[in-house]
Amino acid sequence: MTTQFVILSLLVSCNTLIYANAEDTGFVGSLDHKALGLKKKDKVSHFRFYFHETFTGSNATTVFVVPPLPQYSSTSSFGAIGVMDNVLTAGPERTSKVVGRVEALAAATSQTEFNLLIFFNFILTQGKYNGSTITVLGRNRTSLKVREIPVVGGTGVFRFATGYAETNTIFFDPQTRSTIEYNIYVSHY
Ligand SMILES: *[C@@H]1O[C@H](CO)[C@@H](O)[C@H](O)[C@H]1NC(C)=O
Ligand SMILES: *[C@@H]1O[C@H](CO)[C@@H](O)[C@H](O)[C@H]1NC(C)=O
Ligand SMILES: *[C@@H]1O[C@H](CO)[C@@H](O)[C@H](O)[C@H]1NC(C)=O
Repeated sequence: MTTQFVILSLLVSCNTLIYANAEDTGFVGSLDHKALGLKKKDKVSHFRFYFHETFTGSNATTVFVVPPLPQYSSTSSFGAIGVMDNVLTAGPERTSKVVGRVEALAAATSQTEFNLLIFFNFILTQGKYNGSTITVLGRNRTSLKVREIPVVGGTGVFRFATGYAETNTIFFDPQTRSTIEYNIYVSHY
């Protein structure tokens, strides 16, 4: 009886403490998932899509806008910065169904090898995902065939998203174009 009472009062004072702290700060409080309109349980989804880069011509979709520092131009391209805006397709052919776009920024951030810091926003346009985005930010170690990059968040159905992405080069010719496979494993509500 006494033990139960002690536990109960501990619980009560604990709750009071959390609540009091929240009130004290004046700028933070806790919400439950329902108040945010989120379903209780999160789930993991696997998205697979492809994007197709064009490197040259007036319709180039991936362009380097800042050249590398001269002393790295023939080695790691350190200092180069590029942007891209590419169509996402469901299959590896350019003509397959369009499911969104990927807008991105990339910078060569290694002095010793060609590595990129990449910042990708995947904008989906299909079904319940229409208008939702997934943000991927990390290091693209271009020397590896498959590269793992973290999912750092998202919007719409991807609020509170976490996960990782794997990329795989299907075709790559620096003079003309590329096809890149993207697998995104994302935990979301
Ligand atoms: C660029 O895109 C436009 C519109 O899709 C197309 O008419 C044109 O032929 C393309 N130009 C090149 C160089 O691919
Ligand atoms: C996606 O949403 C936009 C804006 O609401 C709408 O114009 C478009 O038709 C939708 N696309 C699909 C495939 O549902
Ligand atoms: C990684 O870099 C390679 C080489 O530039 C590029 O083809 C590929 O699209 C990049 N992947 C990502 C996820 O940035």
